Amino acid sequence: MESIKLFSKEFHQNPYDHYKNIRPHHPFAKVNLVNENFHSWMAFSYEAATAVLKDERFIKDIRNVFPDAYSDDTMPPIAQSMLFVDPPDHRRLRQLVQRGFTPKHIARLRGRVEEIAREESSKMRSKKQVDFIQSYAFPIPIRVICELLGVPAEDQRDFQRWSNVMVDVNEHDKYEQSTAEFMDYLARLFELKRQSPQEDLLSELIHVEEEEGKLTTNELFGVVMLLIVAGHETTVNLISNGLLALLTHPEQFTLLKEDYSLIPQAIEELLRYNGPVEFSTDRWARESFQFMGQQVNKGDHVIVSLASADHDQHMVDAPDTLDITREKSSHLAFGKGIHYCLGAPLARLEADIAFRVLLEDYPNISLAADLSELEWRQSYIIRGLKELPVRLG
Ligand code: HEM
Repeated sequence: MESIKLFSKEFHQNPYDHYKNIRPHHPFAKVNLVNENFHSWMAFSYEAATAVLKDERFIKDIRNVFPDAYSDDTMPPIAQSMLFVDPPDHRRLRQLVQRGFTPKHIARLRGRVEEIAREESSKMRSKKQVDFIQSYAFPIPIRVICELLGVPAEDQRDFQRWSNVMVDVNEHDKYEQSTAEFMDYLARLFELKRQSPQEDLLSELIHVEEEEGKLTTNELFGVVMLLIVAGHETTVNLISNGLLALLTHPEQFTLLKEDYSLIPQAIEELLRYNGPVEFSTDRWARESFQFMGQQVNKGDHVIVSLASADHDQHMVDAPDTLDITREKSSHLAFGKGIHYCLGAPLARLEADIAFRVLLEDYPNISLAADLSELEWRQSYIIRGLKELPVRLG
């Protein structure tokens, strides 16, 4: 079978129509992502997607497939974070931070997240029209993750620049330079924290690295970069893709405005309908084997289209309909298996508060551009808009 050429500008504008054509015929198929010479497997159906995410023969750490070709020194630090390694390292790295992200611990942040959302909302009060992403969807999650980690929120625009380079296809030539800047910045910050530790996650992680030997220096850089990038790139787009979906489905928006108790349910549906993480991160076949009727070879690259799986009619009825009153669905927006999103409780809390405050303060918010003018970022991971102009009045 020939590889499916997936990406084009039209694809990013509306991937769901493309997925609808591909999925029934090719639940698990070869695709061209980067260039014509590089083939990846992609899971399009819900069945294939869950099977890949749960199958331990699809692993995350390329060093475990080709141990002689890669070493800790040649792998960028983010590739040594929990998201890109396998057990037992995965368990060790996840356990170090897990405690701070449990639903119980996250629930205690509600008051502070609400304060942040109210501050950001009131900054928009004097304006008629704003880019919703820069003015509201971005500052909330970045401020929250900065506070949790103990990283200065004043530097949020730098974090945004560095993490955009990590996830956007068109920024790839800036990758090395940008990662080097990010690491220099963190090295200076780690030094400051070493001299005067505080009550924050970063000081705790530095202590673990120095005193307890459970974390290498590369892993320390990796986990902090991962939490900064994953902690905001995703939730920003949940809030902004979510608002766009509501603005383009006015009857659903009205339902929500009339009954705030629907907000948690609506967030699950917005995650499923146009979630912020379109693709899983990379996986590699640890060995050669038959999978969903296809011959997969050792070292093959595998990705899951979470967006396609969540629009599979075998997962929910009428998958292309936005229905915020839907019963709980088993969507894959936060992944599945051992790499299931660590930040899911935090993302849900942030989105809940962001929508609640927005509906209270700006119930008449509307789109200030034609749908056809909105441009989607080109990314191998994220689904998000470049800008979302809205009228607030
Ligand atoms: C709506 C917002 C979010 C979505 C949709 C999302 C989605 C995901 C997905 C799909 C994965 C698994 C990727 C894979 O298996 O390849 C993941 C992993 C992860 N996410 Fe999130 N995420 C969100 C917010 C956050 C936040 C706020 C944090 C901050 C703490 C976070 C931290 C992580 C981490 C650390 C992992 C790696 C877990 C592991 O490897 O064990 N995420 N996320």
